[in-house]
Amino acid sequence: MFDPYLLAKPFLHALDPEDAHELTLCALEMNVVPGQPRGDDPILATSLFGRRLTNPVGLAAGFDKDGRVYERMGAHGFGFAEIGGVTPLAQKGNPRPRVFRLPEDGAVINRMGFPNEGADALERRLRRKGRPEIGFGINLASNADSADPADDFVRLARRFAHYADYLTLDVSCPNTANGQVFLDPARLADLLARIAAIDWESNRPTLVAKLSPDAEDALLERLVETLLAARIDGIVVANTTRQRPPGLRSYHAREAGGLSGTPLFALSSATLARVRTLTGGTVPLIAVGGISSGADAYAMIRAGASAVQIYTGLIYAGTALVTGIKRELAVLLRRDGAGALAEAVGAAT
Ligand SMILES: Cc1cc2nc3c(=O)[nH]c(=O)nc-3n(C[C@H](O)[C@H](O)[C@H](O)COP(=O)(O)O)c2cc1C
Repeated sequence: MFDPYLLAKPFLHALDPEDAHELTLCALEMNVVPGQPRGDDPILATSLFGRRLTNPVGLAAGFDKDGRVYERMGAHGFGFAEIGGVTPLAQKGNPRPRVFRLPEDGAVINRMGFPNEGADALERRLRRKGRPEIGFGINLASNADSADPADDFVRLARRFAHYADYLTLDVSCPNTANGQVFLDPARLADLLARIAAIDWESNRPTLVAKLSPDAEDALLERLVETLLAARIDGIVVANTTRQRPPGLRSYHAREAGGLSGTPLFALSSATLARVRTLTGGTVPLIAVGGISSGADAYAMIRAGASAVQIYTGLIYAGTALVTGIKRELAVLLRRDGAGALAEAVGAAT
């Protein structure tokens, strides 16, 4: 089938990545981006946090920071979408340029620092548009200049509890000082205790935490222990990396910020496998980081992921990537004799 993204890509990639992104969001808002084929192969159906998904491929946080286009993501093939990161107050983020394509590496480096319109604007949009037909998460973050970043998360969790299937605590952003605070297990435990102390009345939201692929093993172990002790409902693995794996060829490879895309896959999949060992399969894991094929998604699922997310792959392949991943995943599941996606989760552990 002809892929219209092949026509748009040279034009988009001639622009600054953020301008290209804004144009993409505008095109999605105006509903002029052709959708992907509807109707998922039944073998891909699964459930995440008790919510049924027609497929396990999600949109990762950071693409739709302000909730502008999430309701269109079902038409583009996704089984769920995570919007945000949203911070309590609107903020501009770091100075531009702050997003760089690494085309020879299939990667991106960003140091955006959570530019977003803030919680008021997001809540207004969510009220107006409601929930999408697909699974839905909201990614929460603290303001860069907040004196009490844990309080930011508490306020956001209260505010958005009823708008989504799950809330992600982004406690691993490499691009702001406050994004790094909760790499200290004591600070993470305090944050989780403060959220647990909220009087949820039986309406406690499903809470997941997003981890960094850069925590060395002893720290990762303590962070996961802390999350499990606080009865976290799930873990997203992983955020972008500050590391620069050897062999990067692109001009912008030395820019500061978090690296995403193909060169992240080895690190994110190793971190996912380790987190699966540490959790023993007791909580669902969402895998993200460099997934650019059905084989990548399948490897993550076999290593213990209940669902996967993509972002950077879309910059290079458009939303046809979602369809491609789903097709290949269905073939691989059948090849290995699985009757349903859930049978493959953790099969390699
Ligand atoms: C431009 C950009 C902005 C991002 N913003 C966020 C964010 O606000 N919150 C978050 O948790 N992750 C954010 N991420 C990280 C992605 O959700 C994902 O974890 C990471 O990019 C790895 O996946 P990928 O290789 O498929 O892109 C961002 C990534 C990019 C490239």
